[in-house]
Amino acid sequence: MLFLKAAFLAAVVAAANAVKPADLSVNNTDSIVGVAKTLASGAMSYYSGNASSFADLPEPYYWWEAGALMGAMLDYSYYTNDTSYDDIIATAIMANTGPANNFIVPAHELDEGNDDQAFWAFTALTAAERNFTQPAELTPKGVPSWLDISINVWNDMVVRWNTTMCAGGFTWQIYANNFNGLDYKNSASNGGFFLISARLALLTGNQTYVDWAHKVWDWTYGVGIINKNYDVFDGTDSATNCTEINPLSFSYQNGIFLYGTAALANQTGDDVWATRAQGLLYASRRFFSPYNNATDVMWEHACEGVGTCTKDMKAFKGFLSRFMYSAVQILPSLAPNVTDYMRTSATAAGKACTGANIGNATSGDGTTCGQKWYVGGFDGSVGLGQEMCALETVQGLIGLNNVIAAANAPEPSPSPTAPAPSPSSSKKSSAPGTPQVDLRWTVASTLCALFLFTMA
Ligand SMILES: *[C@@H]1O[C@H](CO)[C@@H](O)[C@H](O)[C@H]1NC(C)=O
Ligand SMILES: *[C@@H]1O[C@H](CO)[C@@H](O)[C@H](O)[C@H]1NC(C)=O
Ligand SMILES: *[C@@H]1O[C@H](CO)[C@@H](O)[C@H](O)[C@H]1NC(C)=O
Ligand SMILES: *[C@@H]1O[C@H](CO)[C@@H](O)[C@H](O)[C@H]1NC(C)=O
Ligand SMILES: *[C@@H]1O[C@H](CO)[C@@H](O)[C@H](O)[C@H]1NC(C)=O
Ligand SMILES: *[C@@H]1O[C@H](CO)[C@@H](O)[C@H](O)[C@H]1NC(C)=O
Ligand SMILES: *[C@@H]1O[C@H](CO)[C@@H](O)[C@H](O)[C@H]1NC(C)=O
Ligand SMILES: *[C@@H]1O[C@H](CO)[C@@H](O)[C@H](O)[C@H]1NC(C)=O
Ligand SMILES: *[C@@H]1O[C@H](CO)[C@@H](O)[C@H](O)[C@H]1NC(C)=O
Ligand SMILES: *[C@@H]1O[C@H](CO)[C@@H](O)[C@H](O)[C@H]1NC(C)=O
Ligand SMILES: *[C@@H]1O[C@H](CO)[C@@H](O)[C@H](O)[C@H]1NC(C)=O
Repeated sequence: MLFLKAAFLAAVVAAANAVKPADLSVNNTDSIVGVAKTLASGAMSYYSGNASSFADLPEPYYWWEAGALMGAMLDYSYYTNDTSYDDIIATAIMANTGPANNFIVPAHELDEGNDDQAFWAFTALTAAERNFTQPAELTPKGVPSWLDISINVWNDMVVRWNTTMCAGGFTWQIYANNFNGLDYKNSASNGGFFLISARLALLTGNQTYVDWAHKVWDWTYGVGIINKNYDVFDGTDSATNCTEINPLSFSYQNGIFLYGTAALANQTGDDVWATRAQGLLYASRRFFSPYNNATDVMWEHACEGVGTCTKDMKAFKGFLSRFMYSAVQILPSLAPNVTDYMRTSATAAGKACTGANIGNATSGDGTTCGQKWYVGGFDGSVGLGQEMCALETVQGLIGLNNVIAAANAPEPSPSPTAPAPSPSSSKKSSAPGTPQVDLRWTVASTLCALFLFTMA
């Protein structure tokens, strides 16, 4: 007994060693944990806050990305059991809840829209779902629970459902004087509220959240932000009464709706949500396999090929990974296809994290991440988003492998919908030699002035 315990502890210590991302072995927990440790350190090198004090990210990163970083780090702690960042994370979240404990932060009025608020709420929801420790001594004010903070966001957002035009929808912005004000209705804000509703439904069983998730889905689908093939587009405009769709499409937008539909499938047991989740997963193939030398490797198809990704866009792939992994935890029937995508993409991401500290990079020299995973190495594009994308794609393999192991276990699975063991990767084919670029969906520089809507 004592011997076993010592052996177990030794294994834990060994697992805590950092591993070079390029050496990732996707079926080996120690390897995944070690690579995640390297990547978490790289991502957090951009963050100068500490366990007692929050700090905004350096220029040029917007406020939402700090919330997204803390969400990625919550997953890091959960999947790897490395709790060394926990106090830093808790302090950062609590420092940003604002006076009403709902992530409305006066200091960030100029860069807070509905989607930015939603990204912080995703992080609070993760903390609530994981029962993440809430260290009262680290927070200067009263400590509402992570769940209460998430509910506060929902209650704050719901009154902004706007029927003046388009028969509904959330606008991108909260404040009329921000860029594009209260005209643009985007998938991230509507999907953000949809995902918050779905996760609150799962956490609380409160039917109000299920009903609103239905309502937001119906509106988003009704105006065509989601089409019948489950492609999710960037948004639409009140100026046209939402009759014209901005056809840009980004990976995280699919991920937000995928995770929300999976949560509702789990909570309601209604096949309509499982069907939608499968549809969104199928539609996500547009974010993989850009060339026939890169089958199942993720890319941001609207901008990577043409080199027009902004700082924000360089973080998006990580959210598709995070939300795919989260969806699989609660809807295991998604596992086989997610496995093909994520094991291949994580391996490619690892090979991209072999750079030196060039430019403003602060991550470990020799393990700095590039942006494009399909090139087979480091492409010289460095930044926080690049680190986060690799981190989120790698660390979730642990949760995915747990789901696969549970499905393969000899005991009858507790879930009737658990998948058959992942078949030996049946490869999805892409048109030989043809990049899957639809030019209408590409962020061309000429379109920027009109259509380059992101999070800020
Ligand atoms: C990982 O394990 C799966 C079986 O679960 C196997 O099909 C796959 O080839 C393995 N991958 C690697 C890189 O070892
Ligand atoms: C945390 O950061 C604050 C603000 O920069 C600083 O005053 C404080 O000394 C730091 N605390 C620790 C333990 O490093
Ligand atoms: C590098 O850092 C400086 C100072 O914080 C900032 O102004 C600049 O935009 C950064 N450059 C890039 C490419 O991130
Ligand atoms: C983390 O801890 C849990 C509970 O002890 C354990 O089941 C799990 O295997 C651990 N995960 C890793 C990656 O070590
Ligand atoms: C959450 O943690 C508290 C104490 O920290 C414990 O009482 C409670 O049972 C935990 N809940 C879950 C769902 O793990
Ligand atoms: C609703 O949208 C209209 C524009 O369609 C805008 O003028 C109005 O201020 C918005 N209302 C709220 C509460 O945001
Ligand atoms: C806007 O579209 C909605 C349906 O989406 C319709 O009910 C409404 O009458 C339209 N308003 C205008 C001003 O065209
Ligand atoms: C369900 O959620 C709504 C919205 O947050 C709230 O107003 C209502 O009180 C909740 N119902 C229960 C039974 O908690
Ligand atoms: C999963 O992959 C298989 C094999 O490539 C494909 O036929 C199927 O359509 C995919 N399903 C989804 C939901 O992506
Ligand atoms: C719902 O999610 C839980 C994990 O949180 C899982 O054990 C269960 O099998 C899921 N139920 C369904 C119907 O997918
Ligand atoms: C795959 O092909 C694309 C397009 O020719 C190229 O940019 C990329 O570097 C190639 N990737 C690898 C791993 O060779």
